[in-house]
Amino acid sequence: MLNSGTMKKQARIAASILAADFAKLGEEIKRAEAGGVDEIHVDVMDGHFVPNISIGPPVVKSIRKVTDLPFDVHLMISEPEKYVKAFADAGANRINVQVEVDTHIQALEMIHDLGIQSGIVLNPDTPAESLKDVIAEIDYVLVMTVYPGFGGQAFMESTLPKISAIRRWLDDVNQEAWLAVDGGLNQATIGKACAAGADFIISGTSLFRAEEGIAAVVKEIRKTAQCQSD
Ligand code: DX5
Ligand code: ZN
Repeated sequence: MLNSGTMKKQARIAASILAADFAKLGEEIKRAEAGGVDEIHVDVMDGHFVPNISIGPPVVKSIRKVTDLPFDVHLMISEPEKYVKAFADAGANRINVQVEVDTHIQALEMIHDLGIQSGIVLNPDTPAESLKDVIAEIDYVLVMTVYPGFGGQAFMESTLPKISAIRRWLDDVNQEAWLAVDGGLNQATIGKACAAGADFIISGTSLFRAEEGIAAVVKEIRKTAQCQSD
């Protein structure tokens, strides 16, 4: 289905496991699946591109056994070309690389050759124009709405004009691509991101830490994202 004019895609929701309890990661993923999320978002950090370290391919391989949901793997690492194969072999369905990394085009070509989806990610201060060499070729653009490295941060409204600009650009050159947002997405901020044109919501804290349970939050997100995209 085309993502332009009146023909909008249903927004997708991915649960970021960074906010899950890692002591029972398999159960947490099943809880997210039972709550109705569409994908599992896996944050990979190398302590170099971002000032934090998270998880690698062995963990992805282990959690691959507990769900059939797609794995959306977000590489916040300096040398993605060295690791894309390992993450694909471990079970990633989409691998996303940061446009600020010099080797992002090489990594995207490798991901494409591996036969899985590719995504490009922009940090809050990175301009939309940085996508010019790749925007027509990718399956997904992810606008970071916080500085990457940590969960639980506040959504940066300063990213909204960039989301709108990328929405218009995608409508012109790549209508099939998703426009994702990641960081600080909750009941108060999702509507703003969707109004600007996002159709793929990534959230950790608002899902895994929800007192009302994941299903209730997913229902609210779908309502908000849907009414903005009709
Ligand atoms: C930040 C990560 C995000 C983060 C989102 O570096 O890329 O995916 O886990 O978490 P919340 O929803 O807590 O902002
Ligand atoms: Zn992420």
